[in-house]
Amino acid sequence: MLRFFKITIYLAVLLIGQADNHVGHSMGWNGGTIGNIFQHQRAGSSNDSVLGKATAPSRDITRLPAQKSKGKQQLAILLAQRHSVRSFSSTPLTLAHLGQLLWAAQGMTHEGRRRTAPSAGALYPLELFVLVGRVEGLAVGVYQYEPQQHALRRVQDGDRRQQVASAAWEQMWLASAPAMIVIAAVYARTAVKYGPRASRYVHIEAGHAAENLFLQAQDLDLATAVVGAFDDPQVVRILGFSNTIAPLLLMPVGMPHPSPMHPD
Ligand SMILES: Cc1cc2nc3c(=O)[nH]c(=O)nc-3n(C[C@H](O)[C@H](O)[C@H](O)COP(=O)(O)O)c2cc1C
Repeated sequence: MLRFFKITIYLAVLLIGQADNHVGHSMGWNGGTIGNIFQHQRAGSSNDSVLGKATAPSRDITRLPAQKSKGKQQLAILLAQRHSVRSFSSTPLTLAHLGQLLWAAQGMTHEGRRRTAPSAGALYPLELFVLVGRVEGLAVGVYQYEPQQHALRRVQDGDRRQQVASAAWEQMWLASAPAMIVIAAVYARTAVKYGPRASRYVHIEAGHAAENLFLQAQDLDLATAVVGAFDDPQVVRILGFSNTIAPLLLMPVGMPHPSPMHPD
């Protein structure tokens, strides 16, 4: 009798597990299972230990001004105008502009249930860092964007723009921008569900975030570019990343240089 009871329980657990897997597959793109939600909470938090021991995130949090969900231009105009800019004026970036750019790339929407860019399985592998040089109201340093709070967490003191520009095969024009946004990724968050396809999905997501940021910059009359040519280990070392996170794209941001001597 006891043996029959044990077998019945075992079969019930097996069936529930399979049903969960099945739902997981059929609803894979909206993260429909409770298992996925737990994974998301565990893996998707920016409090994961993505920074090396030498770069512990500080408690120093700067709230960003609330983002605006209405732009100046129509999307088609922004698409037609978008272009890479590689020279910047010395004008500092405002905190409101920086906040708006970060929100466009990875900010929270739908009362915190979604983000501005799609994410495979809603697992959100991307992390944004900002190398701050000249931003009103922010000390020079390296900051991590906290989408949940729409805030910046200071993770390093000191201006790292020159070092990163140098690590980008001496593309020193990068350092002339008042701030540089680094799009980085924690592949493991996506690999938990998608295994070997994770890297493909993560790279697609970095593209979504970068284009969002690009179009937002255009609407704010700001300049940016995407830079993928850099020495990974050097950038990892400069930013104090652990081996769980990889830098994917650098995006310098600022006002475009007014002089015609500085063509884009
Ligand atoms: C994945 C990727 C990597 C890039 N890396 C660099 C780079 O390292 N340096 C650079 O100056 N531009 C880089 N670019 C920008 C391209 O050169 C630029 O987008 C292209 O010339 C088209 O110009 P547009 O952006 O003005 O339309 C990169 C673009 C992409 C999509």
